[in-house]
Amino acid sequence: MSALTETARAKVNLALHVVGRRADGYHLLDTLAVFPPVGDVLTLEAAGEGPLNLSVTGPMAGALAGLPPESNLALRGARLALAAAGIDPEQAGLALTLEKHLPAEAGIGGGSADAAAAIRLVCRRFGLDPLGPAILEAALRLGADVPMCLHSRPLRARGIGETITPLGALPAFGLLLANPGIATPTPEIFRRLETRTNPPIADLPAIDHAGAVVDALAAARNDLQAPAIAFAPAIGALLADLANLPDVLLARMSGSGSTCLALFAAPARRSALRPYCARQGLRHG
Ligand code: C5P
Repeated sequence: MSALTETARAKVNLALHVVGRRADGYHLLDTLAVFPPVGDVLTLEAAGEGPLNLSVTGPMAGALAGLPPESNLALRGARLALAAAGIDPEQAGLALTLEKHLPAEAGIGGGSADAAAAIRLVCRRFGLDPLGPAILEAALRLGADVPMCLHSRPLRARGIGETITPLGALPAFGLLLANPGIATPTPEIFRRLETRTNPPIADLPAIDHAGAVVDALAAARNDLQAPAIAFAPAIGALLADLANLPDVLLARMSGSGSTCLALFAAPARRSALRPYCARQGLRHG
């Protein structure tokens, strides 16, 4: 078996409305998510006779250092897909490598994207459909964002994330992601919500009216943004900086934070970042 590789793309919520709450405490959402080509890189290789094992490398590996391997979502995703293939993970003879680039607790689905990429890898290896109903259902139990990350294409998701409608296409925007370096724990941000029954997102207009799409996105919100700013005021300062960048169309937080996004008319101009980087004392490039 030659090594198989998958990118665990970041999940970016362009809008996220909290529209209700289930009896078990999970919140009902209406969200528009996109999956830009940045993320972690997972590799699956043959490794003798032993159990499935995981090694973590990459610039953000330290964020997972204290985590017992059994709770790593990449490993749990791979195990889930092995079970679907009827293979005992203890005798799978497979090595999974997670090259970690995405920050943890950052609102861009890092762990969920890893789980989804691991599921895709094992499915590729054993000829399963990663979007089959049994896998999607098991994936939801790993995390509410995992089914979305299995799709990894522009989509609208409702329920707690399980009712997924792929979006035909979106206008070609430039997207900048910025993280203030503060982790925002998802349950804590949900807990701080004041209103849990907000209206859903209005339908997006046809993509050939890019301006109308931007207007529709601007009229939408991220309902978790205010509680996240209350938890970490640096998010509010970052959003103000992003909103002031030249040619920016929209600045908003993703997920439960702390990563924020700025949308630009495509192609994104890297030079647009120069004033922000200069103010923050960051290297530009
Ligand atoms: O499903 P996931 O593990 O990502 O969720 C982490 C926590 O975030 C949940 O235990 C819950 O407290 C909160 N959550 C929620 N409603 C959602 C998703 C997450 O309340 N739709």
